[in-house]
Amino acid sequence: MDVLEQLENILNKAKVDITNVTSLEKLEQLKIKYLGRKSEISSILKSLGKLAQDIRPIVGKKSNEVKREITALLEKRNQELLESIFTRLETDEKIDITEPGEKVKIGHTHPITQMRIEVEDIFTSMGFSIMSGPEIELEYYNFEALNIPKDHPARDMQDTIWTKDGNLLRTHTSCVQIRTMEKFRPPIRVIAPGRVFRYEETDASHEHTFYQVEGLMIDKDISVSNLIAVMKTMLKEVFHRDVKVRLRPGYFPFVEPGFELDINCLICGGEGCPVCKYSGWVELLPCGLVHPNVLRAGNIDPEEYSGFAFGMGLDRLVMMRYEINDIRLFHSGDLRFLEQF
Ligand code: DAH
Repeated sequence: MDVLEQLENILNKAKVDITNVTSLEKLEQLKIKYLGRKSEISSILKSLGKLAQDIRPIVGKKSNEVKREITALLEKRNQELLESIFTRLETDEKIDITEPGEKVKIGHTHPITQMRIEVEDIFTSMGFSIMSGPEIELEYYNFEALNIPKDHPARDMQDTIWTKDGNLLRTHTSCVQIRTMEKFRPPIRVIAPGRVFRYEETDASHEHTFYQVEGLMIDKDISVSNLIAVMKTMLKEVFHRDVKVRLRPGYFPFVEPGFELDINCLICGGEGCPVCKYSGWVELLPCGLVHPNVLRAGNIDPEEYSGFAFGMGLDRLVMMRYEINDIRLFHSGDLRFLEQF
């Protein structure tokens, strides 16, 4: 076969191959096939010397032309393939940076937790410390040391969940009073927020698990007026207005005298409405002066010191502030309720 014709054939075949190729890898293989050291053109160029003198330059020139042309074709196809890859990427992997992002839902603290933190802030600003105690408690701290001996009828006021080994789920935070006195000497100013438990049928105002804040202040000459002053300060901060209080006698074995502290109804302002049962007053919390037996249980001399204590329902406080009418909503897990706070 005539060498020039052979070169022409190579070029034609290369044209077809290069046009049909659809991947960069295959294109690279074609480059090796047509222009590499083992390609037909290379061997033609290598054997130029064997050709007759007169056709040698013609074949040489033609070979170089074919080479250049194939190089150009490869380059062009390379460009085309790259472009098609990019257009595909643009549609397949398109990212619209202007599209609004997906909102990550961030939760917030529970309304009871919010109130607890608020109450803690109010009391710490009055010089109170924050104490805590165990939720599974000894009978001693929950009852005995609080002047409620075995078989005392006051034990029936609190339906108790007992553990098999004779301990109990604390029915109130008052146990922390004793634990505090065991740890610290007067003057004592503490609050103890925490979870408490009752063996209780649930309804709109009763839960088996709820929250209290215990308060305890012991010093020389502590009287009911200290109690009232602290309570009024706390209530003013919580409800953002002056709140009237009144004390009624109430019985709790660990205080003497014991009181129920009422506040004027915040719904009607004391005029009388269904919430306060037209009395103008709403029961807020029980409190009193610490019973001498309780001080003694805490190794504090009742001749030298006196104190007040109170037990505030945290759930109740939240319910009053937001006018929530069912305590069971708190642990319902119902987001329609929780998201309002
Ligand atoms: N621990 C009582 C209860 O849960 C509430 C209570 C009453 C606490 C009088 C006190 C207090 O500190 O002085 O029923």
